[in-house]
Amino acid sequence: MSWVSDYQYTCLQKLAFQTLQLTGYVPHHIAFVMDGNRRFARSKHIDKIEGHSLGFAKLADVLRWCLDMGIREVTTFAFSIENFKRSSEEVEGLFNLAREKFSTLLAETSRLDEHGIQIRVIGNIELLPKDLQRLVATAMLRTERNDKLFLNVAFAYTSRDEITQAVEAVLKNNNDDDDDEGQDALQPTDINERLLEACLYTRHSPPPDLVFRTSGETRLSDFMMWQLSTSVLYFTDVLWPQITIWNFLASIVAYQRDRCRLEAFRRQERLHSVHLAKSSEFYSLRVQKFLLKLDANRRKLLISLASN
Ligand code: FPP
Ligand code: MG
Repeated sequence: MSWVSDYQYTCLQKLAFQTLQLTGYVPHHIAFVMDGNRRFARSKHIDKIEGHSLGFAKLADVLRWCLDMGIREVTTFAFSIENFKRSSEEVEGLFNLAREKFSTLLAETSRLDEHGIQIRVIGNIELLPKDLQRLVATAMLRTERNDKLFLNVAFAYTSRDEITQAVEAVLKNNNDDDDDEGQDALQPTDINERLLEACLYTRHSPPPDLVFRTSGETRLSDFMMWQLSTSVLYFTDVLWPQITIWNFLASIVAYQRDRCRLEAFRRQERLHSVHLAKSSEFYSLRVQKFLLKLDANRRKLLISLASN
């Protein structure tokens, strides 16, 4: 099963797609909380891992819809750090599924290149088994030049961990002694919201415009808590493996309806951000150098994980 499905649209579905594209704004970035795989499996009397596998198949349809809708960035919650608390059988089953899917991805990178899809795994990947770290790091490096659609797979992810890692990144990367006698080291006045935001896993992504959660749960479950303050939230009772293109289109309509208010909030945030930048030298050469070093160090880590 490929990461992007060959979904066959009916005429009515094509018409609905085109109408939404012509009459309203299409979100730039959508985040999906794929919930309800096990309830679906129970309802069909199949194994829960089979439910997760069908969940992946649905993700491949969703990616196809996003590509065809002209969405540029998709983030999907595939494995929370909290999921480590599930039975070892389920955790191992999910890792095996990920091993299978990332191996398929590496075997079909030409298909991803054709669509210009870049894969970024966001999360604490060092918590994963070594062979999975290698697959994930290789997939990221192999697709890093693609820039038409960014697919962020949140794996071993929680927001609280992401923020903790961001603080750690500031401390670790600031203590590297390859600069001139510490002249470039960040100062306490450099530490502000914008710097921390630039140290998150999502540092190269705009915040999601729309969050789509299935299965009737209306929680955020420690997913992108920093990034979602101005996003449209869309909840549906349908279980993830059961969603249809009509559920997807309904979420786009909800976004188009609420977008104006969202933009007003975002304008206010940008003003706040400019104010912060002025008061704290966010654009200083020192901060820029630090962020370049952070990116270079994160890439070095990927190269070392990929070659382990
Ligand atoms: C939530 O449903 C779903 C998950 C914890 C796993 C989702 C993973 C996939 C769809 C596979 C993704 C794999 C890759 C490689 C991207 P749940 O288990 O919480 O179900 P429930 O709410 O009914 O208990
Ligand atoms: Mg659940």
